Amino acid sequence: MDGKAMYRLSYGLFVVTAKEGDRDNGCITNTAGQVTTTPNRITLAVNKGNFTHDMILRTGEFNVSILSEQADFEIFKHFGFQSGRDVDKFADYKAAKRAGNGIYYITEGTNAYLSAKVAGTMDLGTHTLFLADVTDGEVLDGASSATYAYYQSSIKPAPQKKEEKKGWRCRICGYIYEGDVLPDDFVCPICKHGASDFEKI
Ligand SMILES: Cc1cc2nc3c(=O)[nH]c(=O)nc-3n(C[C@H](O)[C@H](O)[C@H](O)COP(=O)(O)O)c2cc1C
Repeated sequence: MDGKAMYRLSYGLFVVTAKEGDRDNGCITNTAGQVTTTPNRITLAVNKGNFTHDMILRTGEFNVSILSEQADFEIFKHFGFQSGRDVDKFADYKAAKRAGNGIYYITEGTNAYLSAKVAGTMDLGTHTLFLADVTDGEVLDGASSATYAYYQSSIKPAPQKKEEKKGWRCRICGYIYEGDVLPDDFVCPICKHGASDFEKI
């Protein structure tokens, strides 16, 4: 199989947020999508290693802020390259407001948000697939939604030309694994994507 065929699938990009007691958190995902209109339902796949995953599993609620082409790389670094287990991502984060369900949504670099209640889960091994009812939503501005392809071409900084490192580069976040052979079960320590998302450099 040509693994590159998978890159032709088109995705949006989202900040998925949750709240458990006094704790707020969120992470970047590319895996939210509407699956039925009546009832209005979405699915969302979240890696079990993500703190946000555990919060959603325990509370049964989350918001999806839809990233637009106005989003800068800082949002991806803030929500996608560090874990709420290590930092409080909302401690000094100004560009967020609480939706009716009390969970934060992101107000800059986003064009809408949805609130959702988990209706079912499926264990996918590395991830949990959440099936959820959309309970609320609001359009924030008219900017176009960012696709994964747009993130790759126009948001993520281009790799440094002078880079001397050899090995494998994560196509998602740019992390470099130095070594000739990338183990099949390797998981990026920064963005948690697997070996299939690495390219030889
Ligand atoms: C562009 C991009 C796309 C990502 N897509 C997903 C995804 O679809 N599912 C997922 O579980 N993690 C995804 N991640 C990784 C999480 O955002 C990342 O591991 C985050 O640090 C987890 O934070 P948490 O532990 O606070 O929940 C993505 C990261 C980036 C930068």
